[in-house]
Amino acid sequence: MDVQEVLKLADDLVFINTGKHLDNLQEVILRGTLQGLKYSKIADESHCTEGHVKDIASELWKLLSEVLGEEVNKANFRVRLEQVKFSNLWWNFNKDIVQIGEVNFCENSSHSPKLPNSPIEEEVLNKANTEPKVRQFLAEMPKSGIFYDRTSELATLKQWILHENTRLLAIHGIVGIGKTALAAQLVQQIKNEFDFVIWRSLATSPPLSILQTNIIQFFCRGGAPVPAHSPEEGATTGGLPLLEYLQKYRCLLILDDVQMVNSSGQLAGDYKPGYEDYGTLFRQVGELSHNSCLVLLSWETPREIAALEGKNQPVRSLQLNGLGGEAGEILREKGLAEHEKWSELIEQYRGNPLWLKIVATMIQDLFNGSLSDFLSDDTLFLGDLESLLDQPFNRLSESEKQVMSWLASQTAPVSISKLPENMQLSRSQFLKVMQSLGRRSLVEKILEDERTFFTLAPVLKEYLKTNYSPT
Ligand SMILES: Nc1ncnc2c1ncn2[C@@H]1O[C@H](COP(=O)(O)OP(=O)(O)OP(=O)(O)O)[C@@H](O)[C@H]1O
Ligand SMILES: [Mg+2]
Repeated sequence: MDVQEVLKLADDLVFINTGKHLDNLQEVILRGTLQGLKYSKIADESHCTEGHVKDIASELWKLLSEVLGEEVNKANFRVRLEQVKFSNLWWNFNKDIVQIGEVNFCENSSHSPKLPNSPIEEEVLNKANTEPKVRQFLAEMPKSGIFYDRTSELATLKQWILHENTRLLAIHGIVGIGKTALAAQLVQQIKNEFDFVIWRSLATSPPLSILQTNIIQFFCRGGAPVPAHSPEEGATTGGLPLLEYLQKYRCLLILDDVQMVNSSGQLAGDYKPGYEDYGTLFRQVGELSHNSCLVLLSWETPREIAALEGKNQPVRSLQLNGLGGEAGEILREKGLAEHEKWSELIEQYRGNPLWLKIVATMIQDLFNGSLSDFLSDDTLFLGDLESLLDQPFNRLSESEKQVMSWLASQTAPVSISKLPENMQLSRSQFLKVMQSLGRRSLVEKILEDERTFFTLAPVLKEYLKTNYSPT
């Protein structure tokens, strides 16, 4: 890559991330770096002090490091950008799906890039111009497999999104309950109602700046010019350029595995240090006026949703519970006989499709497919479910673990007015913990005579008994 190409790429990356192009001094610093000049020489040529050049350069390296997700400095700047340009650009045309790697080439920007396109870029753009406009970026969405039931959930979600202008929506529920599968079905049914449909997983905990860059690349590939706005309009989006696209186009944006940007060891809803801007994005999506919908799939209700949601509000949440009798189809698929006992197994494993798949495999492997032998055992056998539950359990705060362990030891559901014995929790701390466990779908609520009682699913009780002893 020649100097112009490297500068053009740096300018695009900075623009996508901040909405601003490189200013003159930043460009001079990058050009000087590529020519091997010292900061003192760059300062002389730009008629400013060396200290000022160093300050601006250090901010620029920090920004580029954030955008690329790895350290960028004076010594490795060219190499890093060449790596990005040559190794991460890839095409995957697959029916209506296209995905591009880490770099964006935003050809239709209304803030037209200052530097000319490189030959590789031209090739990409020419290719894009001959293809039909591709506006569904679903490479990270799992392929639809066999899918049972969820008719009422799908009807509710469609009503909210298509008819009640829901802007921010969380589908939350315990591990394996079917959040991703349900959202994938939903997308298949409603994707043609939108200008853009984009699915991203947060499983690798990308910082928001990186995620934003990636998503804006998709908009650019779909031929969406960067929205032009007045400074006042720009100010309302709080420096989050993604919001401008959501305002300008009708988008369905799905973020899966959102719990991965939440912190561990604390009550539900806090963000990992450095990830708090996700909360700002979610709040802004809920509060600003637009026709897009951001769907969050998570083990826990995001705090912003809990604060903003309401029947007449554009912010909603759906707690996903188990499948009913339809879960029997999963057992049929796994070759289990004794149909009359299926409902007992489904009840014990709370209709959780993944739990049922795991346990059905175990029944085949260890009990020769005999459901009655399995159910006659006094202990609820967890097998591979233990390692599945480790991850959500290890994310809990110590007080949540203690309260769950106490709930596991109760023989009957307990009223909220009962305070755990032998625990150093005030009443208000206990209520907070219960609310947090509820937001993680880890406690079950039972209404009886207008009073609320709480209990744990049998699988969780068994997990607690065998895997946790309070200190
Ligand atoms: N309605 C359904 N019909 C048939 N299979 C289903 C259904 N829902 C989920 N499954 C299957 O159950 C398994 C778990 O589903 P999925 O991955 O959607 O759960 P999840 O809630 O997203 O889990 P995680 O919390 O780990 O992200 C998958 O194999 C999926 O295909
Ligand atoms: Mg999932």
